[in-house]
Amino acid sequence: MSGTLLVRGGRVIDVDGEREADILIVGGKVAVVAADLAAPDGVEVLDASGKLVFPGLIDPQVHFREPGWEHKEDLESGARAAVAGGVTSVMEMPNTNPTTTTPEALADKLSRAAGRMAADHAFFFGASPENAEQLADWENLPGCCGVKMFMGSSTGSLLVAEDKDVERVLRSGKRRVAVHSEDEARLRALKANAADDVTVFDHPSLRDVEAALKATTRLLNLVEKTGRPVHVLHLSTAEEVALIRERDLGELVTCEVTPNHLFMAAPDCYERHGTWAQMNPPVRDARHRDVLREALADGTIACIGSDHAPHTAEEKAGGYPNTPSGIPGVQTILPLLLTAVRDGWLSLADVARVTTSGPAAVWDVAGKGDLRVGFDGDLAIVDPSITEPLPAAWLQSRSPCSPYIGMELAGWPTTTVLRGEVIWRDHAPVGASRGKPLRFTKS
Ligand code: DOR
Repeated sequence: MSGTLLVRGGRVIDVDGEREADILIVGGKVAVVAADLAAPDGVEVLDASGKLVFPGLIDPQVHFREPGWEHKEDLESGARAAVAGGVTSVMEMPNTNPTTTTPEALADKLSRAAGRMAADHAFFFGASPENAEQLADWENLPGCCGVKMFMGSSTGSLLVAEDKDVERVLRSGKRRVAVHSEDEARLRALKANAADDVTVFDHPSLRDVEAALKATTRLLNLVEKTGRPVHVLHLSTAEEVALIRERDLGELVTCEVTPNHLFMAAPDCYERHGTWAQMNPPVRDARHRDVLREALADGTIACIGSDHAPHTAEEKAGGYPNTPSGIPGVQTILPLLLTAVRDGWLSLADVARVTTSGPAAVWDVAGKGDLRVGFDGDLAIVDPSITEPLPAAWLQSRSPCSPYIGMELAGWPTTTVLRGEVIWRDHAPVGASRGKPLRFTKS
């Protein structure tokens, strides 16, 4: 039977901890997780001795740029980078060209993905003042993971800047809304008052703490008023962490952080990487980084989203402030989090929580994010003995602009399994791309 595989001898990691166990996947689904399983006749055996075996990662925030900007990335190259990093499910953002703001645009992405994406996938609808009322009808279409709203402008044209329009979006539909939370009026005022000779070192003050805090405060007020659940993307400030804790809106407000905000800090990142470290909201100083680390470890922040946002080296060399914001990162989530385990501020179980069960719970992803019997047999198998500096040649994104090239690794994902089939091994794809649309329990 296809999708049938015995993974033997690995150290299995999930949200509850670690144990030596074998995993039998039958017909694409987890059948048994237990020590010393015998291989049924004819079943392929994958030797995982000495390896760490995680459930396949779910990355709930990627920009794969198709249609419109395929010179930066496309659905095929983005998904290749994902599975090379042990990410078996991706949720892709709507700021493409054209934007994903109609059912036709969603259908177009789904048909482009079929047979070309190696990872399972779903797509966000972009909210706009024009489509706000229609989102309620569209958000449950197959292959849609929900609605994304930009309260501050970033790459592309999507924007819902005013409270009255944010409220219209929140009142239209039921599923959790993903929000880019920066205050557009504040961003415009900062830009208008900027000196002529700004450099990338000014990026955190041109999109400052106040811009992020103001938008998140406005958003939480509207969440309380409307009762609509939201997910605050790429949290970047200690002040927003404090606000979210203080307002304590429970399940109504979840949030995520990017590896960039956890593993880089200003000004060092701009000295070392220049505009390759430029993203929105910006990477800020170590005070913010340290609070974000604590908030991830204690569960205030539910999950990691890479915000994989590829641009070309030429575009990134254009001269700040005309350089585009965004950092490719879908492939380096797991390697970076393994350095956090090595350095002692996350456990392996935390890594599983924030990359698998955490995002699955935030977005109600069906049958993913755990190794429970009946769940999809998706695995990220890591060789912890790979500790060399990360070579650029291992990265699969069309964008070469990763600030993590050369970092000392604390393990590297070598084999990826999707629904019981090996799809990536030793830096190369195995077989045809078989990603399918994700399913959701509440849509
Ligand atoms: O830095 C960013 N780049 N932040 C975003 O919100 C969008 C992203 C992109 O699409 O380039």
